[in-house]
Amino acid sequence: MAVETVRINNSGYRVKHGLLRRITPLTEHEKLFEIMLPEGESLDHDPGQFVQVSLFGVGEAPISICSSPTKREAFEICVRQSGRVTTAIHKLHEGDIVGIRGPFGIGFPVLPLEGNDVLLVAGGLGIAPLRSLINYIIDNRRDFGKVDILLGCRDPESMLFSSEIGHWQKRIDLNFCCSVDHAAPEWAGNVGVITSLIPGVNLHPLKTFVVVCGPPVMYRFVIEELLKKGIPERQIFLSLERHMKCGLGKCGHCQIDNIYCCQDGPVFSYQKLKNIKGAI
Ligand SMILES: Cc1cc2nc3c(=O)[nH]c(=O)nc-3n(C[C@H](O)[C@H](O)[C@H](O)COP(=O)(O)OP(=O)(O)OC[C@H]3O[C@@H](n4cnc5c(N)ncnc54)[C@H](O)[C@@H]3O)c2cc1C
Ligand code: FES
Repeated sequence: MAVETVRINNSGYRVKHGLLRRITPLTEHEKLFEIMLPEGESLDHDPGQFVQVSLFGVGEAPISICSSPTKREAFEICVRQSGRVTTAIHKLHEGDIVGIRGPFGIGFPVLPLEGNDVLLVAGGLGIAPLRSLINYIIDNRRDFGKVDILLGCRDPESMLFSSEIGHWQKRIDLNFCCSVDHAAPEWAGNVGVITSLIPGVNLHPLKTFVVVCGPPVMYRFVIEELLKKGIPERQIFLSLERHMKCGLGKCGHCQIDNIYCCQDGPVFSYQKLKNIKGAI
C-alpha cells in the first residue's frame, strides 16, 4: 500500500460507516442515536470529544459523543434538529448508515479530575457531552471525590435524558440538582437560572474541579459565581461550540485568535480562555 494511502486510512480524513443500531426520541427536537462501527473498528474516545457525522449528498456536522468510553460495543450521539444536516439525520431509521470521522479534539481533563471533587454544570444540550463524563465517573466511581451535577433547562419538557437523570437522582454518591426557567405549578423542583444553584453547593474550592457545558451566554455568569466561591481559574473547564468544517485544524472555520477549537479544544481551562478575545 502506498505511504499516502496508509496516512489517509489512519487519519481524521477517513469516513467510517456507522450503523444506526437504535434511535430514541428524547424530546420534540432531540433524538439519541446509538451507532455501531464495522467489526474491528472502535471509536476509542475521551469524554468531551466529538465526531463529524455525515450524510452523503447532504453534508457533515460536528456532534459530541454522549456515551462513556466505558461503553465499548457502540457509541451514542444526541442530535438536536436545527438545520440541513441535523434535519436529515432526524429523518433516518434504525439500520441506516451515517459517515463518521473522528473522534476529534481535546475532551474533559479526566486525569486531573481523579482524586478530586467534581462539579458539573450543564445548560440545555450541554448535558449531552457531560453525560459521557458523568457515566465515565459512575463506572469508575472510586477514582473521584464528591460529585455534584447542576442542570439548567428551559422547561421540564425540554430536559434531556430524563429517565437516566431519575437514576442519577436516586444514587447516594451523586448530588443532582436541576433548575428550569419556566414551569407549570405542579413542578416540584427549582425555578430560575442555573447560576441560582451554585451558591447552595457545598464545596472545597482547592480540591474541586468544575466542568461547564452549555450555551455561550451562560458561561460569563456561571464563571462569576464559581470565582465568588473561590474556585481557582485553572480548575474551571469550559467546552466551546464554534462553526466547524474539517475538525483537523486545516480550514480555519473554528479559529479564535491563535487557537483552533476543533484541535486545541473544544474543552479549555478558563485560565487559558480568559485572555483570548472573543472566546467567551
Ligand atoms: C464541538 C461541537 C459539538 C457539538 N455537539 C452537538 C451535539 O452533541 N448535538 C447537537 O445537536 N449539536 C451539536 N453541535 C452543534 C451542531 O454541530 C450544529 O447544530 C450543526 O452543525 C448544525 O448543522 P445543520 O446543517 O443541521 O444546520 P445549518 O443548516 O448549518 O445551521 C442551522 C443553524 O445552526 C447554527 N449552527 C451551525 N453550526 C453550528 C455550530 N457549530 N455551533 C452553533 N450553531 C451552529 C447555524 O448558524 C444556523 O443558525 C456541536 C457543535 C460543535 C462545534
Ligand atoms: S474546523 Fe477546520 S480548523 Fe477547526
